[in-house]
Amino acid sequence: MVDERIAIYPGSFDPLTLGHDDIVRRSLRLVDQVIVAIAATTTHDKNPDFSLDERVELISEVYGDEPRVQVVPFEGLLVNFARANGARLIVRGLRAVSDFEYEFQMALMNRSLWPEIEVIFMAPASSYTFLSSSLVREVARLGGDVSGFVPPPVLRELARVYGSAVAGT
Ligand code: PNS
Repeated sequence: MVDERIAIYPGSFDPLTLGHDDIVRRSLRLVDQVIVAIAATTTHDKNPDFSLDERVELISEVYGDEPRVQVVPFEGLLVNFARANGARLIVRGLRAVSDFEYEFQMALMNRSLWPEIEVIFMAPASSYTFLSSSLVREVARLGGDVSGFVPPPVLRELARVYGSAVAGT
């Protein structure tokens, strides 16, 4: 399709939460294709729970029945990845004012690097505004029930790593 609208939804997704999923599904209402772009290099140094390959595999499983979502890892600059994929739109979720400063800085830096890029911020469902991958990781590591916060394939993997209590069973 010549005029296909493609949005890049970048992040660490360690792991993908229902808040991320909510943003992907909202984005699909605006564009034809969403590329969930899993960064090998992130702005904040992180020690991931799931390797890049594991995240690609898991998130691909989450969107296995959604042909308009592609899951792709990338290295290097996000704007270079966007340009190489013919995408001029980056989507990021904004949960609260506390996210704003970091997101705004990244948006303007990305635009300085490639003036053709646009960044749109989307609000997730209010029930997910408190959710973050880091909190899900912490609760799971401590054996808490995270079944209300992540899609089933992610829950299965967290339960495998941290025990069945994280799945509420
Ligand atoms: O989910 P996160 O960790 O908040 O996502 C941050 C991410 C991956 C979007 C950001 O670190 C990023 O874009 N990394 C790729 C490298 C890059 O382009 N850095 C310059 C950003 S202005």
